Amino acid sequence: MKRYIAAMDIGTSGCKSILIDESGKVVSSAMEEYPLYSPRPGWNEQDPEDWWRGAHNSLRKAISKSGVSAGEIAAVSLSGQMHGLVAMDANREVIRRAFLWNDQRCAKQCADVLETLDGVDGILRYTNNNLLTGYQGGKILWLREEEPSNYEKMAVALLPKDYIRFKLTGDYVTEVSDASGTGFFDVKNREWSYSLLDKLNIPRSLFPRCVESDVITGEVGAEAAELCGLKKGAPVVGGGGDSVIQTTGMGLIKEGVLGLTIGTAGIVAMGFSQYMDNIGGSLQFFCNNSRELYHVMGVMLAGGGSYQWYRNNLCRPEMDEARAGGLDPYVVMEREAAVSPPGAKRLIYLPYLSGERSPYSDPNLRACFIGLTQTHVKGDMTRAIMESVTYGMRQIARKIQDLKPFEMSRVIVSGGGSNSPLWRQIISDVFQLPVVTVSGAREGGAYGACLVGGVGVGIWKDIHEACGVFLEETRDEPNAANKGVYEETFGIYNDTVPALKPIFDRLANS
Ligand code: XUL
Repeated sequence: MKRYIAAMDIGTSGCKSILIDESGKVVSSAMEEYPLYSPRPGWNEQDPEDWWRGAHNSLRKAISKSGVSAGEIAAVSLSGQMHGLVAMDANREVIRRAFLWNDQRCAKQCADVLETLDGVDGILRYTNNNLLTGYQGGKILWLREEEPSNYEKMAVALLPKDYIRFKLTGDYVTEVSDASGTGFFDVKNREWSYSLLDKLNIPRSLFPRCVESDVITGEVGAEAAELCGLKKGAPVVGGGGDSVIQTTGMGLIKEGVLGLTIGTAGIVAMGFSQYMDNIGGSLQFFCNNSRELYHVMGVMLAGGGSYQWYRNNLCRPEMDEARAGGLDPYVVMEREAAVSPPGAKRLIYLPYLSGERSPYSDPNLRACFIGLTQTHVKGDMTRAIMESVTYGMRQIARKIQDLKPFEMSRVIVSGGGSNSPLWRQIISDVFQLPVVTVSGAREGGAYGACLVGGVGVGIWKDIHEACGVFLEETRDEPNAANKGVYEETFGIYNDTVPALKPIFDRLANS
């Protein structure tokens, strides 16, 4: 009998469900969107019931499209937006809408924790991660201060994908990769940091049982089976937080293989074979989806977002030309950029449209072009954005290498930016490494969740064997002739923030 693996990825705009076979081929997928509520600037919420509806509808659609029978689905696995808070009461009901990863309301509570613990180094000792406002921990503290009656009612704090697990199996369970992004997890020992919880006076009982990502956490119940089109009793595997498990779905499980995801953000990630201290806390150091592995990443807030902002605000003529010719606007923009020489005639762009999370953790940084002269044309500006976002990613890669020096062997790219042949070549030249795209990566977290699910039920012996299913789709080799110019411009780029920091602070604080 053929075996298939199903996964649901509870994203922010919708839920994507996919089904893969034992060769790693995606046999079908379906997406269902749901609303996001922003009651105030910086507040972002979703209704967990919408997630569940999106999850069961999309999975049922994916299964029925595939023609696969429910009995052939050997495992169900989960990926999901990280860091959110789903507050459950003692009757196992949701108390209020969930706070999301991009909800900033708990800045004060996070600052208070840092003060209690004598700064970033204090929290790093417990969790190996800075307490970002996105993380679940600050949201729990906000609830305690701002909605005490809801806090009193809260019996369990779930992460988004683990709410879907609860609907599938009736159990409260999480796994190490998502738990790492709560701010209350001892990443070194792969368990809740009970000493931190005690110090902050938060009941230990709020946190669900935590297992490794490939563990079977329960079985699909009768009602969920009916809604999803699954067989009652199908095993549900741990899965992972989306930004971790999507790198598993890109095959990023070895030191030296660097992953770049250019979506709205720019994420630089790597699998680590051992625990390392996250000195300074500007990276995110999480447990990976395999028990012997860790995951390290740095997130630029406006990687692809810079390019998109530039297209929307400064490339009207290119957009019109593209529309008239039935082309993608980026194709027209890149035609101009391809004529600009490497280094864009010494033009630099700083990508801090939303401040920055990594390599600098600084909300006051601002975006700008530096070095414009009469000789520059539009194509130089377009190229400068692609190059400079790549420099930012190289800065993060350096920070990762500061944790532990290792040889980088290649770069795997994914996300919208990886569709551009010019950008892939720039990455290859700036890093002086081969750049590849792989099958599966475009499915995001759902693909990695399928691989982890397959390991959980024994289809693959471990994550290394599971990642053997990848096919290389494109490969770009570095052009050694461009090394010098990129080294020089990268050097200038590195000196920009220290030089301009006082100006950015004045602009931000006016
Ligand atoms: C990761 C992060 C996002 C969310 C939403 O740290 O903030 O990737 O997981 O997808």
